Amino acid sequence: YGSTGVNKNGNLEIGGVDAVELARQYGTPLYVYDVALMRERARGFKQTFDELNVTAQVAYASKAFSTVAMIQLAEEEGLSLDVVSGGELYTAIVAGFPVERIHFHGNNKSREELEMALDHRIGCIVVDNFTELELLKTLCREKNAFVHILLRITPGIEAHTHDYILTGQEDSKFGFDLQNGQAEKALRIAMECDSFDVLGLHCHIGSQIFETTGFLLAAKKIVEKLEQWKIELSFEAKVLNLGGGFGIRYTKEDEPIQPSQYVREIITEVKHLAEQHSLKMPEIWIEPGRSLVGDAGITLYKVGSSKEVPGVRKYLAVDGGMSDNIRPALYQAKYEAVLANKPLAKANQTVSIAGKCCESGDMLIWDLPLPEAGEEDILAVFCTGAYGYSMANNYNRIPRPAVVFVENGRAALVVKRESYEDLVRLDLPLK
Ligand code: LLP
Repeated sequence: YGSTGVNKNGNLEIGGVDAVELARQYGTPLYVYDVALMRERARGFKQTFDELNVTAQVAYASKAFSTVAMIQLAEEEGLSLDVVSGGELYTAIVAGFPVERIHFHGNNKSREELEMALDHRIGCIVVDNFTELELLKTLCREKNAFVHILLRITPGIEAHTHDYILTGQEDSKFGFDLQNGQAEKALRIAMECDSFDVLGLHCHIGSQIFETTGFLLAAKKIVEKLEQWKIELSFEAKVLNLGGGFGIRYTKEDEPIQPSQYVREIITEVKHLAEQHSLKMPEIWIEPGRSLVGDAGITLYKVGSSKEVPGVRKYLAVDGGMSDNIRPALYQAKYEAVLANKPLAKANQTVSIAGKCCESGDMLIWDLPLPEAGEEDILAVFCTGAYGYSMANNYNRIPRPAVVFVENGRAALVVKRESYEDLVRLDLPLK
């Protein structure tokens, strides 16, 4: 995984830093991010667009992992930024991210959130529905503001992934339907408003997708509509945003294609379609989240108690669980792991890794082959960089773990561990 290896002490190493040492120094559970790998992923996307000579924006979908340091890294790598809430926007602003490269998503942006976006003059608002379209019109009028927008459409595509993270199908809470006239109606309304520059369309068909078919199909449906709108409405899209969703390899069973291949196939298809339908090639924007940060993250846990159900299974509990990684409980997500203090020891047993939350469903990994393991061993779970910290919670009043960035043999704390005081900071007494 990434730049992990085994060092001369026989311990797992990430970004040139000893994982066992990190656990000792910063405590566990601990999220560790390999910065070089995140840079490599970002450059991979950007380079592919450059090679194909296509004007593009690669917007990091910050919902995957949003902290001030992460946003600053995205800025250093020349990425744009996709935010989906006032909180993510605030984080970007605090991080000093260039506002003109921020894109604002969401199916129920509040008046306050939209005002915040307008006041900060962010680059683009992705309008999701008619309510928002009207609200944004009103706000622009009130503030005498002008804004670039994309219209989010649902192309009616069923990507092959978990139902909860499917978003492009017709029966979705997101976007204007492309097929039944909604999108066209929205476009007419938006084009009539002088406060808007309608840059183009956005669609996102789902997440953790392993093939390009869905993207190509979505592009086809959109370009066909664009041809019709060029003739009927004189509308020419300057931007086509095809969302994120590029899958990554969590376990040996996963076989995603390379990020550059997604980009190549998408671009080739859009170029071809644009020619075929006599349209100018639009700028292509994408919004990867998981594929930029997912495999760069590792969670370190300390092993604690164990329990044997004779003849059935052995449970090994760690000091975190669904409070720092809800994905196994929520999506039956699978992970691989090793003992950081003996990564090369031969597995001689199969154990199931339990979290410490008071809930039977709090299992991180079922049936993991491991060497002899017990109290004080450090378990390293791979590929936890996306939707781990960002979905972490305080269930059972468990403090959220710290986050450390490692690069070139150096570690830097980028999010402090929550304390018990933090947990009650907002609580008020009964009387
Ligand atoms: N753009 C839009 C409009 C999105 O809704 C999403 C993800 C992305 C981009 C980024 O998708 P990515 O490249 O990360 O797949 N919590 C779930 C994933 C939810 C994804 C929601 N939207 C999980 O842990 O698998």
